[in-house]
Amino acid sequence: MSTSERQGLRVTGVSKAYGGLQVLKDVTLRAPAGSITAVIGPNGAGKSTLANVISGFVTQDAGQVFVNGAELPAGKAVARAGHRLGRTFQNLEVFTGMTVLHNVAMGAYSRQKGSHLGDLIRGPRTRRNEREAEESARALLRKFGLEHRADSLVESLPFGEAKLVEMVRVLAMEPEVVVLDEPAAGLPPASAMPLAETIAGMAQEGIGVLLIEHNMKLVMSISEHVVVLDQGRVLTEGSPAEVQKDPRVIEAYLGPGHAKSEELTL
Ligand SMILES: Nc1ncnc2c1ncn2[C@@H]1O[C@H](COP(=O)(O)OP(=O)(O)OP(=O)(O)O)[C@@H](O)[C@H]1O
Ligand SMILES: [Mg+2]
Repeated sequence: MSTSERQGLRVTGVSKAYGGLQVLKDVTLRAPAGSITAVIGPNGAGKSTLANVISGFVTQDAGQVFVNGAELPAGKAVARAGHRLGRTFQNLEVFTGMTVLHNVAMGAYSRQKGSHLGDLIRGPRTRRNEREAEESARALLRKFGLEHRADSLVESLPFGEAKLVEMVRVLAMEPEVVVLDEPAAGLPPASAMPLAETIAGMAQEGIGVLLIEHNMKLVMSISEHVVVLDQGRVLTEGSPAEVQKDPRVIEAYLGPGHAKSEELTL
């Protein structure tokens, strides 16, 4: 794929209302390939709804989502794998009752082409695909230091490791774009550094990363560009340093009256 096609994620004019509540209002942003773009904003700003629209779990009222210039069908989550768009969830989403290896292999399997009939009768091609998916899953588990957990049920893992499994499963899709919804939520502070390295590694491999996160230290240390969402709108955007000292951002987080004296250190 040529570099001109590897534009990463583009969201244009996305709006979404629930009943009378306008949750997203004309949101436009980009998460270019090979870099980390953060979305921050107070609770209820619409960040997870944006992630849901991008990943097709929620159908927007208006606007488009593109990966590498191709428009993604609204509200079709299953079609996202074909477009190499992966996401993780604010509340951990893993396949319970399955081993760590099979959780990750599901990600690898989703990128393979095969016929449903072939899947049903488990023909030679299906078996080969399964084997390949497991092999690449094993290699990824090794890379992320989770090899010793391969045969454990995913629900038996400590929370931090289960979150890592969720992220590794997304990487197994060999995604062009990933959307991470609060990957640091619920993790002990000591896990923040390894998490930062994992996310930075995704960008280094050329993935366009959209990082939704409340942990400002994490956001400010690894993001190239920060978009601030407030009440469903893009309030402002810029470099981490610009956004951090923007009085409007501080006000959106802390309320009026704080803007002059404080920097955002949430
Ligand atoms: N399915 C839904 N039905 C009705 N209202 C919803 C639905 N999903 C989200 N909302 C509302 O939309 C608004 C934005 O929610 P969203 O979860 O996107 O915010 P957020 O920025 O992710 O917040 P947080 O930082 O707490 O995760 C909230 O007021 C929420 O109550
Ligand atoms: Mg959220």
